[in-house]
Amino acid sequence: MNDFKERIAAELIAVRDRSLAYTEADEDLLVRQHSPLMSPLVWDLAHVGNYEELWVLREAAGIDPVRPEIDDIYDAFKTPRKDRPSLPFLGPAEARRYIEGVRGRVLDVLDRIDLENASPLHRDGFVFGLVIQHEHQHDETMLATLQLSGQPGLVRDGALPPGRDAGPEEVYVPAGGFLMGTDTTPWAYDNERPAHWVDLPGYWIDRLPVGNRAYAAFIEDGGYDDPRWWTPEGWHWRQSTGATTPLFWENDGRSWWRTRFGRTEPLPMDEPVQHVCWYEADAYARWAGKRLPTEAEWEKACGWDPYERRARRYPWGEADPGPSLANLGHRAARPAPLGAYPGGAGAYGAEQMVGDVWEWTGSWFQPYPGFRSFPYKEYSEVFFGQEYRVLRGGSWAADPAAVRTTFRNWDYPIRRQIFTGFRCARSELV
Ligand SMILES: [Fe+2]
Repeated sequence: MNDFKERIAAELIAVRDRSLAYTEADEDLLVRQHSPLMSPLVWDLAHVGNYEELWVLREAAGIDPVRPEIDDIYDAFKTPRKDRPSLPFLGPAEARRYIEGVRGRVLDVLDRIDLENASPLHRDGFVFGLVIQHEHQHDETMLATLQLSGQPGLVRDGALPPGRDAGPEEVYVPAGGFLMGTDTTPWAYDNERPAHWVDLPGYWIDRLPVGNRAYAAFIEDGGYDDPRWWTPEGWHWRQSTGATTPLFWENDGRSWWRTRFGRTEPLPMDEPVQHVCWYEADAYARWAGKRLPTEAEWEKACGWDPYERRARRYPWGEADPGPSLANLGHRAARPAPLGAYPGGAGAYGAEQMVGDVWEWTGSWFQPYPGFRSFPYKEYSEVFFGQEYRVLRGGSWAADPAAVRTTFRNWDYPIRRQIFTGFRCARSELV
């Protein structure tokens, strides 16, 4: 195998180690549904193997199906998450055997496949990038399921750099064009393409994500009881759910607590707020006299280099996200304190744009001009419209393989079991 193939093989092995580590629990925990929002963990486990079989073995290599009879069970479009417990899915031991069998053949395919081949699935190893990113995304989903399960002791925690006072609250991004999206990043998805110029007026964006201290001040100021701060849909959500705090927060009358992977601990005031839905983020921003950044504003502040006039892969440049640059790849099971990554700042001075928490933007998930669906319509195209809001930047639970300046995530504005936070922006006063 050449170096590039060796790197792909290493990524395949790393993501599988991760999936297996998250599914080391008792059989009961794996087959049970912990929330109607989530699949049973063992469904995710076999689903990643089935996806790998479909795309690498069948589509890219033309190999006959290993187990065609289970395709329907693992087709995410056939059965919504809430109904998945009733599917005849494989049990933990069988699921592990199945994905291991698929993986063995995938490594054989990698060994002999021509990655210079003109097929867009083969070129630059796209199909391997597809399955590696897909599995990491399911691993993050499994972490959200483990958080909802409330079971202690299942999720590894680790150390993170300390926070610091990072200076002025906002950074200024002067008016001008920037190149949004990409034509050249090898494993970028269809929805990140094509690269296109976007002209923006000058704006201010928060240097850091909104922290727990600031968010608690919004609550203590009666933010959840004041319809002025909420859109009509947001106020409807607020009233119908009865939510008065982010998910997993509690107040005992004296102080704030949060529950994280089965442990209840004092709320760390200097961490980015996590587990808020789009409506909460939007209401906070209005209360603060600001708004959520548009997706374009977010991307320009994150990755545009105005000196070189080009987009960076990460805010700091092209270097891989080492532990002093960003909190990605489940180094610890939480966001890092505010100000922990001065070296990870973008060209305009915004920090922690990549890692820690997914950041809600004010934008709907829409195609870029010239969008072409690839490799299948259900990856992105069927989600475009005014139903899903875009999230950017990746969380502590996202892997570097599935995070970059141009990466777009999307979800319903009511979702908050995912590792979501936000930062605010405001237009320049004219
Ligand atoms: Fe999937």
